[in-house]
Amino acid sequence: MVRAAMRLNLKAWWWNLRKHNYLAVKFAVSIFFLGLAFRLLFSRSDDIPSVSHSPFLDKTLSPESPAYVGGPENGDENKIFQSEKCDLFTGDWIRNPAGPVYTNESCHLIEHPQNCMTNGRPDTQYLYWKWKPRDCELPQFNAKRFLELMRNKAWALIGDSISRNHVQSLLCILSKVERAVLVYHDEEYKSRRWHFPSYNFSVSVIWSPFLAKAAIFEDQNGVSTSEVKLHLDMLDTSWTSQYHNWDYIVFSSGKWFIKAAIYYEKHAVLGCHYCPGKNLTDIGFAIAYRKVLENVFSFILRSNHKGMIFYRTTTPSHFENGEWFSGGTCKRKEPVKEGVLELNVLNKILREIELDEFKKASVNASGKGVNFKLLDVTQLSLLRPDGHPGPYRYFHPFAKEMKEKIVNDCLHWCLPGPIDSWNDLLMQMVLDG
Ligand SMILES: *[C@@H]1O[C@H](CO)[C@@H](O)[C@H](O)[C@H]1NC(C)=O
Ligand SMILES: *[C@@H]1O[C@H](CO)[C@@H](O)[C@H](O)[C@H]1NC(C)=O
Ligand SMILES: *[C@@H]1O[C@H](CO)[C@@H](O)[C@H](O)[C@H]1NC(C)=O
Ligand SMILES: *[C@@H]1O[C@H](CO)[C@@H](O)[C@H](O)[C@H]1NC(C)=O
Repeated sequence: MVRAAMRLNLKAWWWNLRKHNYLAVKFAVSIFFLGLAFRLLFSRSDDIPSVSHSPFLDKTLSPESPAYVGGPENGDENKIFQSEKCDLFTGDWIRNPAGPVYTNESCHLIEHPQNCMTNGRPDTQYLYWKWKPRDCELPQFNAKRFLELMRNKAWALIGDSISRNHVQSLLCILSKVERAVLVYHDEEYKSRRWHFPSYNFSVSVIWSPFLAKAAIFEDQNGVSTSEVKLHLDMLDTSWTSQYHNWDYIVFSSGKWFIKAAIYYEKHAVLGCHYCPGKNLTDIGFAIAYRKVLENVFSFILRSNHKGMIFYRTTTPSHFENGEWFSGGTCKRKEPVKEGVLELNVLNKILREIELDEFKKASVNASGKGVNFKLLDVTQLSLLRPDGHPGPYRYFHPFAKEMKEKIVNDCLHWCLPGPIDSWNDLLMQMVLDG
């Protein structure tokens, strides 16, 4: 059943792509000039249709593929991703009259595009929910206890703009107890480190959207002048060079792999993803993502790391009635029940690779004394179409006369908002050991 449904969806998706391909090209230029926050993830709208040229779709999503773990028939395999005590990632969003632990007033670290309260989002119901695993309670993040546990320790969140979104949530929750002091930032404020002086605790966010060595040719507005040059067999030194300084690491990646790219291995061109006119073999981004994760995970397994390492799975977007480049919006005001929304094909592909590679690696992790865990937020985040800024990535977007030009953000998350629960989960996993 599940597989049949996926097939059908694939077809719908395919036709959608063909329809939007035309639109994408038409609107791409004007959209680029708007200077989107989306530049961080989807700066080239014409990348997405390129997926349809790749033969990998059949390979990765075929019913024969043993890697697919979405179906109920794979119950046993799913166990590997669960906390020993309880499957933290299966459950429901339930009402939480207490509301968020911080607000736009109490936390000063919320970046404008995620600050839905300040930006004038009128509805507030989305703030009054908490994640409830089916078989256990998930206690709310206890900032005081967390900071005590983390005395003299260091965390890093490594990835793309969703990791940045996540780190703000963590810092805001902790700011109830002590305000974080920014002690380092790179030129563009993409990588940063904060310190909690009373606890000698530090939190870093490391900008590494591919986790691998990449040359990205984009200006400040996300306009690409050339394909990404991505070395599938070399890891990004922006995190490998500091790896052993951190006690806890949360990795994530994926979305940037859909960008047009030329792939290298041993410094030789291996192929590309969407490179018309280049006389290179389009090997598709799925192979590239798989190879990079293999390398990252094998680095982790070889590393002798004594702390705790998490891989956060891909997160869904919730554009409805269009894509981000064609007027899509996310106007829902409440969570949905399981089964109402389906992960789009792109995220299915990313997730399948993540689960598959994590499973392979975790078989070896315990033998090597590496504490490697999956922070599997995909499904629970899928149930929160109400949690995105939408038009409220801008300050009072409807105060001006330019309604038709507002591009919604249905990918990043409002703060406070649903991803605060990711930290409840992290804390529980830290306590579970
Ligand atoms: C916080 O949001 C409220 C609306 O929810 C707004 O009235 C207030 O001015 C905001 N505060 C700040 C500091 O932006
Ligand atoms: C603060 O923590 C770091 C590790 O994160 C440690 O190397 C350093 O010695 C600590 N400083 C003090 C004063 O304890
Ligand atoms: C494309 O590459 C192949 C093999 O590398 C080569 O034989 C062929 O001449 C190339 N075609 C063009 C148009 O450059
Ligand atoms: C796990 O260990 C086995 C035996 O040492 C090795 O053959 C295999 O490649 C390892 N798998 C991963 C994913 O590292």
